[in-house]
Parts: sequence; C-alpha cells; structure tokens
Amino acid sequence: MTYEIHRREEGTSSPFTLVVNSAASRKATWSADQNAILNDQSFQNACDLIRTWDGYEPTPLHDLQALSNQIGVDSIAYKDESQRFGLGSFKALGGAYAVARLLHAKVKGLGSQDIPLSNVVNRLHDDIVQNITVCCATDGNHGRSVAWGAQTFGCKCVIFIHETVSESRKQAIESYGAKVIRCNGNYDDSVREAQTTAAQNNWFVVSDTSYPGYMDVPKDVMQGYELMAFEAFEQLEKPPTHIFIQTGVGGMAAAVAAHAKRRWGNNRPRIILADPDKSACWVDSFRAGKPKAVSGELHTLMAGLACGEVSALAWRILVDHGDAAMSVPDSAAIDMMRRLANPEPDDMPIVAGESAVAGLAALFAAVEDKEAAEILSLNKDSRILLFGTEGDTDSELYASLVGVNAETIRRRVV
Ligand SMILES: Cc1ncc(COP(=O)(O)O)c(C=O)c1O
Repeated sequence: MTYEIHRREEGTSSPFTLVVNSAASRKATWSADQNAILNDQSFQNACDLIRTWDGYEPTPLHDLQALSNQIGVDSIAYKDESQRFGLGSFKALGGAYAVARLLHAKVKGLGSQDIPLSNVVNRLHDDIVQNITVCCATDGNHGRSVAWGAQTFGCKCVIFIHETVSESRKQAIESYGAKVIRCNGNYDDSVREAQTTAAQNNWFVVSDTSYPGYMDVPKDVMQGYELMAFEAFEQLEKPPTHIFIQTGVGGMAAAVAAHAKRRWGNNRPRIILADPDKSACWVDSFRAGKPKAVSGELHTLMAGLACGEVSALAWRILVDHGDAAMSVPDSAAIDMMRRLANPEPDDMPIVAGESAVAGLAALFAAVEDKEAAEILSLNKDSRILLFGTEGDTDSELYASLVGVNAETIRRRVV
C-alpha cells in the first residue's frame, strides 16, 4: 500500500500530490547494480575532464536564510546553475560530456584503443570526428549542451524538438551550429523520432534518457551531472537533511541521490522528487511501484520537466533511494520564480527559470501541510538543499512570467 496525500486548492495553500515510495529507505544498500551505473571511479573520470574545460568553475550555493525563517526550517541552500558554462543550466555538464565520451569511443574503434580522451577533447582527431553526427531529442537544455559539445569537439549535430519548445530555445540551440528539426507530438515522441532518424542515417544518439537497449550514453550524461552534486555537498557547512529536486526523466535526481548515498550512506538526506502535475511520471511510478508512463500533451510551463516516461537507469537508483515524489502546478512554479526574483530582505535576488523551481514549490507545499510535513520529517531543524537547475533559458518567457527581465534582477545583486 502506498501512502499518498492529495490536496486540492484550499484557502491560500497550493494544491499538490505526495506519494511516499514504500520501496525506498535511507538504509537501503547501494547495490552492485546501482554501482555499475554510477560509481566513484566514473564520477572521478567525469570530474577530471569537465574541470579542464574552458570556463569551468563551481556554481554558487546561496544561503536563503530569510526564506528559511519564513517557512520555519533551519536553512535552505540553493545551488544556482543559471550561469553554468554560459549555457544557463546544469545540463551543460551531462550532454557535452557524453558527446566527448561517444566521440572517444568512435575514434578508438577506428584507431587505437590507447588513444586518451584528452586527444579528442583537444581536437587531435578531427579527420575522424568531423564525419560523425550526434543527435538527440530535447525540450531545450539537453540539446543546447549536446550542440555545444558537438561544436566544441568538432562533430556535426542534429537536434529534435517537439511542438511546444519555444522559438527562442530553438534559436539558442542553432547558435551552437546544430541543425534543429521540429517534430509533431510531445517530448517522448521526439525521443522516438530522433532514434528512428539516427538509425536511418548512421547518426549517434546522445540521449539524456535511457530505455532497454540504450543505456551507455545516458550513464555518461548522469556521471556528468554528479559534478553538480559534488560541488554542492562540498560547499555546504553541514550535510542537508532533505533534498527537494525536480524531475523530468529523473537522470539528474538519480545522479544527486547516488552521490548523496555514496557519500553519506545510511545518513543520506531524505530525497523528495518534484514533478509538474501535468507530467507527473515519478508520482505515478512510485504509486504503481514500477515505471509508469503519462501520455498526452504533457503541457506544462516547466518545459524541461515535461517528460512522460522515467529513465530506466534513473528508476533503478531512485526505486531504492528516492523517498517520495510530489507534483506541483505551474502556478506554484511561477510563484516561486517571483519569490526568488523578489526575495525577503537579506536574501539575494535569484534568476530561476520555469524548470528550476519545482523542488522549491514542493518544499513550500509540504511545509504548509501538517500531514505532509510530518511524513517527510520536515521541521525547524531541517536543512534543505535545492538545485536551481536553470536560469532564464527562455528570457522572453522569463520576463513575461516574473514581470521584469532577468538582467534587471541580476543588476540588483550587490
Ligand atoms: C532546468 C532543468 N531542470 C531539471 C531537469 C530534469 O532533469 P531530468 O530530465 O534528468 O530529470 C531538466 C531536464 O531537461 C531541466 O532542463
């Protein structure tokens, strides 16, 4: 039996659904199967490479003390990914790293097994690499990362976007030299179209989601994401008690959960996933006790989270180490974007895009609700870690939702 709370709009509080994952436990072992997906060595490899890239620096971790006082928890730390490699989201870490690894595998396949990854990154095999095409489906940020990686490492790139990806996100991807193809249907349809077209053209798919028969590349993507978790954990003064983290296919949440479990073992923080209510595949999957797809338009403002199917690899981690999933409406995300832009006195203004704040929205909903707060052990001693996974990756949309453009907010930071 799953434990579930479902709240419709009541008074001023926000509606939400919370499903406890009865299979998960902080005491669950980190299994050999999970360690084959994400482990210390693969993280170290990703870390060693990404930290050599031009422009690498750890993103800031903001202490939102005034906000934590307001909602009655001990602290809220916000890992701000809005400036990551100038791409505006944490996704810069995953897709580009997976492109480098894929090109390396191809170069080794055609040349010698001894060729180091750094040779590919330093463009010593352009004769081979320039004839390779990578592709992927995206709702924006992953495609931007793959296109940036392809441009940086010298291969060709085709990106598939679905019907509702905004024109400005399309142009941002094109600015990294990729060809962009718009497909009918939702994100999951564009994943399938990328796969079919790649097979017809001998292109290589660099997807952030995994499915039976396609596991290697998404593993690399998740290994890149672990660097964000590592930086945040190093920046914190004390370990968090809770991580609230937004989910699309769940690759990022799985990477964060994996890093937390490997670092803190049975003392790892509680991990609460946050889905948009229109594409709540993690809520539905935890309820069902197995991956369960949400179909239809998945129409949410939180474009990066508009995924109807969980990643198979992420499931294998989060089934044991994801404690609960919540769904929140678009209206709550807009409210959080505005709160971060216009903070309580003493907190700094933060530019957070639509897909960056579902975790914060879930936290707000949970602390306001006695039953939810109790089941998640949220109280005045809780130390919360949030991942603000994007900035104004669609700046026009950002300005229209927040009522002021992101530059103005950035200028307010002293
Ligand atoms: C800004 C942002 N946050 C979170 C996510 C969710 O990541 P995942 O699909 O790995 O769950 C995405 C995915 O595109 C994203 O763009």
